[in-house]
Amino acid sequence: MSGDEQEKLPTEAELDSMTRDELVTLGTKLDGVELISYEDPWPVKGTKAEKRAERQVAYWFLLAAVAGIAFIVAFIAWPSEYKAPDTDGYFLYSLYTPVIGVTLGLTVLGLGVGALAYTKKFIPHELAVQDRHDGGSAKIDQETVLAELADAGNRSTITRRSLVKRSAGAAAGVMGLGLVVLPLGGMLKNPFADTNSKDSLWHTGWQPSFPGEKVYLRRNTGDASEVVLIRPEDLDAGGFETVFPFRESERGNEEALSAALHRADNPVMLLRLRPDQNVVKRAGQENFNFGDFYAYSKICTHLGCPTSLYEQQTGRLLCPCHQSQFNVFEYAKPVFGPAARALPQLPLAVDESGYLIARSDFIEPIGPAFWERDS
Ligand code: FES
Repeated sequence: MSGDEQEKLPTEAELDSMTRDELVTLGTKLDGVELISYEDPWPVKGTKAEKRAERQVAYWFLLAAVAGIAFIVAFIAWPSEYKAPDTDGYFLYSLYTPVIGVTLGLTVLGLGVGALAYTKKFIPHELAVQDRHDGGSAKIDQETVLAELADAGNRSTITRRSLVKRSAGAAAGVMGLGLVVLPLGGMLKNPFADTNSKDSLWHTGWQPSFPGEKVYLRRNTGDASEVVLIRPEDLDAGGFETVFPFRESERGNEEALSAALHRADNPVMLLRLRPDQNVVKRAGQENFNFGDFYAYSKICTHLGCPTSLYEQQTGRLLCPCHQSQFNVFEYAKPVFGPAARALPQLPLAVDESGYLIARSDFIEPIGPAFWERDS
């Protein structure tokens, strides 16, 4: 700004008494902005065409709002529990992911297109040129910029378009609600409700359905209907295998056999350590192993990935997600990475026919579980 211009600047009192239009004019001048054109898309207000354009914008926001509500309802109520193919409920279950994906996608799309359409149809098309200048902003610049922003909001005409305002508000509100429901939805289950059920967070598919029921260790051959049980001699020293629960009551029941292989908390790592291996056992779980056989939940206690990599020389089980490592020579306690709890151990035995069985379910929740747990 030149010395002459400095002398012409209004005082603070004059600034306070200026209208918004005067401040906008002053700010434009001070910023060295030259307005080339300022084309109002609706020079004649309230025409049918303007109202039609307003409705078109509102339709997009309404679409977003409706899709957002559908997303929340589907996320909470759509059957998401695993169903095996060709069983009752499989069709609805198979639609779960597409339904929540499409509804959330439509919500974002409706909001985005609505905002774009509004900008295109109602914001005046301004063409201006401005010189750059260095240094911080003086009070006069701050005041005039604020006035310009308020003026831009005013000229966008959003304040008098209640239909657009309400539909956009509804869409943004529903989407905001969806963003809250999304992370909180998984916490809707009360871990202390029905703690004895095998579907509660405290139990897995290894829980016997009735006292004394044998739950065998089963191999996954890739064919859900084929049941292959495991004897100790099936595994060499130093070897390991992923096993799943099997109970005689499920023999021939394809749906139950398949569900046992797919239930998220069922996979267990069965390890046969070398006979000369020195092992530190967890206090209170000294008899959970059967000879050299140890069984640990495969579900990482960090965020629930499968701990699939086993390095038999060091006894390390590695989770590929965030590189947590568990030492199976020392009750699978975490020795590296973000996991903070040992992998839960499944108590083993061999039945009179020589097959490996689980003596009970895990005695603690598996995986990352939940924060109310005490171990
Ligand atoms: Fe295993 Fe994160 S889920 S380390």
